[in-house]
Amino acid sequence: MATLRLGDTAPNFTADTTDGEIDFHEWKKDSWAVLFSHPADFTPVCTTELGRTAALKSGFEARNTKVIAVSVDPIEDHRSWAPDIKEVTGTELNFPIIADPDRKVAELYDMIHPGEGDTSTVRSVFVVGPDNLIKLILVYPKSTGRNFDEILRVIDSLQLTAHHSVATPADWTKGERVIASPGMSTAEAGERFANLQEVKPYLRWVDDPTA
Ligand code: BEZ
Repeated sequence: MATLRLGDTAPNFTADTTDGEIDFHEWKKDSWAVLFSHPADFTPVCTTELGRTAALKSGFEARNTKVIAVSVDPIEDHRSWAPDIKEVTGTELNFPIIADPDRKVAELYDMIHPGEGDTSTVRSVFVVGPDNLIKLILVYPKSTGRNFDEILRVIDSLQLTAHHSVATPADWTKGERVIASPGMSTAEAGERFANLQEVKPYLRWVDDPTA
């Protein structure tokens, strides 16, 4: 297993999921995708995470983003855990969970970190673009649940910066001012973007070109 880095092609795989067998690249087609692992079914943090992801369905859809979870538990466990997610979080599971008992996906994506205790997956997140390239990698320990609003926020930044020569500052959210790409001259940035403010030669605020 080679180390996966940003800009690499997300490795393809076939897998059994709660929505049937999939080929990952076929399943996502030309959408964005979030592939995220959780340690185990019937565990408290994972239950809250999958419920929260289900509750954000319209947010992911608005961003043309498909979501898929993975753990090393078998398909029967995923199926019998799903009602708990609805009962505990109030939202029905509405995206597939990959059953990966042979650890094929987990190993392909380096989701098992032996220093984290056992042979279950840590909390990895891969955001994959329409071109099947990896755009974001996050890795959280088992004891810390993720912030799924942050994942939507990063997708907003990835989708904006994929099409416009801008970068997004700390804590940016969609619609706020952005930063002209460092490689662009201030004169060009002033022509291309509205309301340029040069704070430093390397820090030029401009309006979000999509706002
Ligand atoms: C949990 O999802 O609650 C969890 C799973 C593994 C280790 C710690 C917490």
